[in-house]
Order: sequence, then structure tokens, then C-alpha cells
Amino acid sequence: ATETISPVLINQRPFDSKSSIISSHHSTFITKNPNDSTIVAVDNIEIPTVDYAVLFSDDLDKRSKALEHIDKVCEDFGFFYLVNHGVSDSMFEGVFKGISEFFNPTEIEDRKQYEKKHPTDRIRWGLRSSPGENREYLKVIAHPKYHCPTKPAGFSEAMEEYFKRLRVIVHGLGKAVSKAMGFEECYIEKAFKLDSGFDMSAMNLYPPNFRSKGSIGVPNHTDPGFFVSLIQDVNGGLQILSHNGEWINVNMPPNAIFINIGDHLEILTNGKYKSHVHRVVVDNNEVKRISVATLHGPSLDSFVCPAPEFVDEYHPPAYRGMTYKQSLEANGGDEIDVQSSIEQIR
Ligand code: SIN
Ligand code: FE2
Repeated sequence: ATETISPVLINQRPFDSKSSIISSHHSTFITKNPNDSTIVAVDNIEIPTVDYAVLFSDDLDKRSKALEHIDKVCEDFGFFYLVNHGVSDSMFEGVFKGISEFFNPTEIEDRKQYEKKHPTDRIRWGLRSSPGENREYLKVIAHPKYHCPTKPAGFSEAMEEYFKRLRVIVHGLGKAVSKAMGFEECYIEKAFKLDSGFDMSAMNLYPPNFRSKGSIGVPNHTDPGFFVSLIQDVNGGLQILSHNGEWINVNMPPNAIFINIGDHLEILTNGKYKSHVHRVVVDNNEVKRISVATLHGPSLDSFVCPAPEFVDEYHPPAYRGMTYKQSLEANGGDEIDVQSSIEQIR
């Protein structure tokens, strides 16, 4: 039996450095529920923006400032809006059109063929409508082997094109943070054996006009993987818990990508970068909302533990090591349904 090492809080990070480093998008959407104080979220904390292209700029001065910025953002926040990432507007359109058609209300019977029957099913559909979870979802494995329903026409192709570009982007972010932390560019790629990295994606449809107070789309959780990427067709519902315990509404500029640190980057860095709890509330939705949350993971056989570079006598290992496969299985094997997978590992 493995022994659980209790969490060690290292790198105490007061929430005070944000104003100096942030080029931000100011948000105005406010979710308030006077009857339930736990649902209140704020907009006065600005979520940082990272410009992808500048991370690879030929201008060395610009590039090194951008690397410094992303390192600080990952450490002080753990999430950011990514812009200038090269996913074209038409790619976004194709993705949302395909998902919207897949979730056609008149064809719900057809989708039941994808209801989970076996833990290893690579395509899983579900419909949840309880006060604790309100959404319809389709979960697929995007890598190493791509799986997706073939209907409606063009859907699988649109998703495949998006997932391919996303892999390039997320691996680029891995290179950038590797360098920013002072390592060789391939540090993260090697640590997580990304050539056979395990990527899972959840496409979600949240109902409109869901007026019952305090209704939850997806309950509190953190995600496995090293980075999590999220796109959405409209703002409204996604909230993330900041270090100072405030729920922040995620209100992205159009066609930005929301990037969140995953549990396994927290483990590798022994807590230098942390994954953050997030949730979806739907009590204010005026229109239906579509999102695509993709969990970019190590290879299933990667043994993930705090790397020696992040461990010393003042920073003992705060997480126990296990393979990525074991950590997914520790949560019931239903990878994308895990709630706070990191709780098992701390
Ligand atoms: C999730 O994190 O599981 C879904 C987030 C979203 O749909 O915005
Ligand atoms: Fe999530």
C-alpha cells in the first residue's frame, strides 16, 4: 500500500502582484444569487492574458519578457486567457456548428448508442439533469488515437482539425514554461512523454433559461493532465476559485482559449504551479452554451511525481508518485468525470 503524504503548502503566494503584470480583459458579467452566498462570483479580479505568438517572437527581448510573464501568471494565478494562438475563426465556427448539430434535440435517441457501457469506451455520451449537474456531454479520446462519432457530416473532421492545432499550441506552452522555469525546451515534453500523451475532451451543452436558483452545470473539481484548454461559444457560467477563495467569472474575449493548470503539472512542479478548482453554474443562462474542455495529459505509462528539480530539504515531495493511468483509475476509471483527482494523490 502506498502512503499518502499530507499536503505541504509551499510557495505561499499572496494575491498582490497581479496588477503589475497583467494585460487584462475586463469582465462585466456577474452571477449573483442573494439566497445562496456560495454561488456569488466576482468580476473585479482580472484574469491575465497570454499572447501565444509573442512566446515565440524573433525579438529576443520581447520573447524573454513574455516567458517571464507566463511563468509569473502560472505561479500567481494558474489560469489565463490565451490569444493569438492560431485557431482560426473558421475552425471555431466548424467546431461549434458540429457540436450544435450533434446535440440536435430531435435526435437524442440516436445519441444513446454512446452511453457508457464499459470503462474503456472511448466515446461516451451522457445527459445529466439534477440540481447538482445540468448538462449534456460527449466525451472523446483525442490522442494517441482519435475517436469521434462520424455523424453529423463534417463533425469528426472539424473536431480532429481543432484537436491537432490544440496539441501544437499546448505543447508550445509546455516548451515556453519549461524555458521560463530555466530548463531545456523539451523538459515537460520528456517528463510526460508527450509523443504518446493521453488527451481527453468533453464537449458540453448547457441548457438555456435554467432559472432554478443556484443550479450547477458541473460541480467543483480540478482536472487531471498538465494543461486544460477550454473554448466556449458564449460567456456565462464557468467560474474559477482564486487563491484568496473568491469565485471568479470566466468571461473570455471572443475566440480566446482559457488555459488552466492541470493536477499533473502541479505534481511535477511539487506545487510551484497549482491546479485550480472550477465549476459551472447555469442559473443565469439566457441562451444555451457550448464548451469544449480538453484535458492534455502525460502518456498513460508516465510515472508522475515531484521532479528532483523542485525538491530540496525545504520543499519535500508533497505528492506521491504514480503512473498517469493509475491516477485516472484511482478515480473510478471515468477519466473526465473525476472530481478533484488530486485529492487522491496529495
Ligand atoms: C469543466 O471544467 O468540466 C467544464 C467547464 C465548462 O464547460 O466551462
Ligand atoms: Fe474542468
